[in-house]
Amino acid sequence: MNRVKIAAGNWKMFGNSVQNAELFNAFHAAAADLGGEVMIFAPFVYIPELLALKKQNNSKVVIGAQNICDQAQGAYTGEISAAMLADIGCSHVLVGHSERRSIYQETNEATAEKYELALNNGLMPILCVGETLEQREAEQTMAVVLSQIDAVAEKVGFETLCDTIIAYEPVWAIGTGKTASPDQAQEVHAAIRAHLRAQVGENAKKTRILYGGSVNASNADELFAMTDIDGGLVGGASLKADGFTVICNAAG
Ligand code: PGA
Repeated sequence: MNRVKIAAGNWKMFGNSVQNAELFNAFHAAAADLGGEVMIFAPFVYIPELLALKKQNNSKVVIGAQNICDQAQGAYTGEISAAMLADIGCSHVLVGHSERRSIYQETNEATAEKYELALNNGLMPILCVGETLEQREAEQTMAVVLSQIDAVAEKVGFETLCDTIIAYEPVWAIGTGKTASPDQAQEVHAAIRAHLRAQVGENAKKTRILYGGSVNASNADELFAMTDIDGGLVGGASLKADGFTVICNAAG
């Protein structure tokens, strides 16, 4: 099955309106004649501006959010719901990013709630999973990653999960400059796909599994060339137009 590759930029809590518009232009130019998909996961407040730029430029670039509340609505001061994002025309959302899990103590259960709320509101969730360095050294990588996936599958079912996007992001590789080698990443991606296949058979072939963790202009090509790596979720390197353009081309 031919899976369209994705180059996704996770801008985290960086940027401002002026820088975002410049970066958007570069992402848009890179996406224009690319076979792959280009996505931006932006801070909430900038999503309307980016959606307006997308519209003005008739751009293929997908605009998404980095997080949503684990509740549908109510007295949750400071939170933003899946329905609100859908309301303004946002289409995608990251769920369970390791920074949410580790810094804000978000559990597998909360992540599964968010994932289901995203789906119920017509948003495409990107489920982020990954092990810490201690877990890898204790040979718990697969147990951790699969339990993060199973927590969501228990809620929505494996068939539904297979229609969305997963991002494998080893925590020790995020923002550290230490990338998983293509073989290390492929090993986990293949195991995730085998786990899905055991539940849904051939449908597991359509699930796009992105790699994240210090992807940059020099390593994207060899990572994205691996059989089960369907593109990347890119933090630091998505804040520089030139480097990210190279990464987009690797996904093209
Ligand atoms: P990084 O971040 O590319 O800066 O390692 C990846 C991510 O957190 O999604």
